[in-house]
Amino acid sequence: MSFSFQIRSYEEYKRAYAKSVAQPEEFWSEVAAQFSWRKKWDKVLEWDFRKPDVKWFINGKLNITENCLDRHLQARGDVPAIIWEPNGKDEPHRVITYDELHFKVNQFAQVLRNNGVCKGDRVCIYMGMIPELPIAMLACARMGAIHSVVFGGFSAQSISDRLQDAQAEFIITCDGAYRGAKAIPLKNVIDDALVSCPFVKTVIVYERTKTPVSMIKGRDKWWHDEISKVETQGNPAMPAEEMDAEDPLFILYTSGSTGKPKGVVHSSAGYMVYATYSFVNVFQYTPGDIHFCTADIGWITGHTYIVYGVLCAGGTSLMYEGLPTWPDAGRLWDIVDKHKAHILYTAPTAIRSLMGYGLAPLERKKLDSLKVLGTVGEPINEEAWHWYDEHIGKKRLPIVDTWWQTENGGILISNLAGVTPAKPSYATLPLPGIQPVIVDEQGKEITGNNVSGNLCIRFPWPSIIRTTYGDHERCRLNYFATYDNMYFTGDGCYRDENGYYRITGRVDDVLNVSGHRIGTAEVENAINMHTGVLESAVVGYPHGLKGQGIYAYVIMDKMPEDMVLMQADILQTVTRVIGPIARPDKIQFVTGLPKTRSGKIMRRILRKIAEGEIDNLGDTSTLLDPAVVDEIKTRKI
Ligand code: WTA
Repeated sequence: MSFSFQIRSYEEYKRAYAKSVAQPEEFWSEVAAQFSWRKKWDKVLEWDFRKPDVKWFINGKLNITENCLDRHLQARGDVPAIIWEPNGKDEPHRVITYDELHFKVNQFAQVLRNNGVCKGDRVCIYMGMIPELPIAMLACARMGAIHSVVFGGFSAQSISDRLQDAQAEFIITCDGAYRGAKAIPLKNVIDDALVSCPFVKTVIVYERTKTPVSMIKGRDKWWHDEISKVETQGNPAMPAEEMDAEDPLFILYTSGSTGKPKGVVHSSAGYMVYATYSFVNVFQYTPGDIHFCTADIGWITGHTYIVYGVLCAGGTSLMYEGLPTWPDAGRLWDIVDKHKAHILYTAPTAIRSLMGYGLAPLERKKLDSLKVLGTVGEPINEEAWHWYDEHIGKKRLPIVDTWWQTENGGILISNLAGVTPAKPSYATLPLPGIQPVIVDEQGKEITGNNVSGNLCIRFPWPSIIRTTYGDHERCRLNYFATYDNMYFTGDGCYRDENGYYRITGRVDDVLNVSGHRIGTAEVENAINMHTGVLESAVVGYPHGLKGQGIYAYVIMDKMPEDMVLMQADILQTVTRVIGPIARPDKIQFVTGLPKTRSGKIMRRILRKIAEGEIDNLGDTSTLLDPAVVDEIKTRKI
């Protein structure tokens, strides 16, 4: 589809931006009018950041799947909605048109209904990267159930925490998921999680890997059996549930500075409007474009730019199963060439890792279908940016460096491909509707250019977080209480002489490892569960490949005799409690941690040591026991 809200020149961007600030309600009303609604809204916006209470398109009624699917059937029913490239090269790819996707989503929504799922119920989805994952999400949205997708790399313990927090009684999973040479036994992980979740009523299992699974009578059901029941019923029509604009669409858990992940809640209408608006404008989507986003749907990037934003725009979403480096490091380039992808959206970590393989994997790759390149998830270093520009974009393609967060729903700061200027390692300018503010530690706004500080946003945009599931106060404390009347991002940034923003990384205790958000407190909690561990402190340090690595300082009840074995055991515990993504890269056993007289760990010092800056620790005079630091320094790994 084409939308009249698409910005086509720098001048148009400036006009749109100015209007979005001067008349935000009129601005978003014009954008929202380009979607399909059951009933138009009465009022565009009500907000109060202090509570927080944000409502967009009040009393509007809609179903997002009518925008993702039904709306396209007449004009684009035979256009591919999803192209899926499987893990193994011998397996054929799949193309699912809008007609077919509509049919499959309706069918699976019927399965959910047959299994007692109702509007407002929470459904946990733990699947690999196969088309049935977006089908399951859309089927939930169709019937008004709230999906909570959990990334396939999380452990049973993490799933169980999320199931309990959301009180999810339904699960959709697979027997296993392929990732490179491995098949990950997803259903087994679910079974382990369910030991502590007796409230779960139904588990629907899609057969992907033929990994042996235990199927519990009455609770566990095969996807294909449930589909054939619907077929026997003659595929009864599944009208989309009418949703209020502010009804929750999904929950997505993400890490913060406390030990417990938060369930970020997104709304139906605001999320839809901003996901689509940002997709069309940042990537300059034109009808017919094939959009290849390499993220996993278990993260917000996959939700917005593989599923909802792309499908609402009537685009073709190319998704793949597997790894960028398997069977070889030419995997992404082969997929681009095979399907003639126009847009490639990936993470700096993937670029850095592929750079490490040299140019051989790029030989005989054409990459000539590409029009736009994008990055997301972490700051991109200049070296990786230039490699992407030179070897993938052949110096002729725009690169968009897109900054945003799970809580934002869509891209907030980015250049618009080929429309607004790019600058390596800068996200550059805010999208229309986004009003960034830089503040100092006291919350005082820092105006002007060539300045740095903490990044806040002063005005709501349609897809801003509405609450943290089950605990609204937590949402307030995390995002709206640090600075009065502003949304605090947790990121630090610099604004250059042109007003371009460069995001410099988190200023709270959240790490960004290979583009994945991990709270240091979560990792510490996991380490502390290991027998013999008395206390631990986790910090990030610069890591050539992952962006940030995880450095753990651990105090044991007695120094381990076999340090290597103890390190491996602790890694095993972290893998069990959170998942392999949270495994520390380095573990140093210490006898004490640098603390202030009031008992607070001085992380600044630990960070400096982990970064290797042992001679430049700054002021250590407030330390309770400065000798501890000397010991840590001498044993640094
Ligand atoms: C970081 C991912 C620099 C940032 C969409 C943010 C970035 C966190 C960029 C959110 C970027 C994301 N440049 N840093 N282009 N994009 N970040 O919730 O620290 O998984 O706060 O959302 O990633 O991570 P999340």
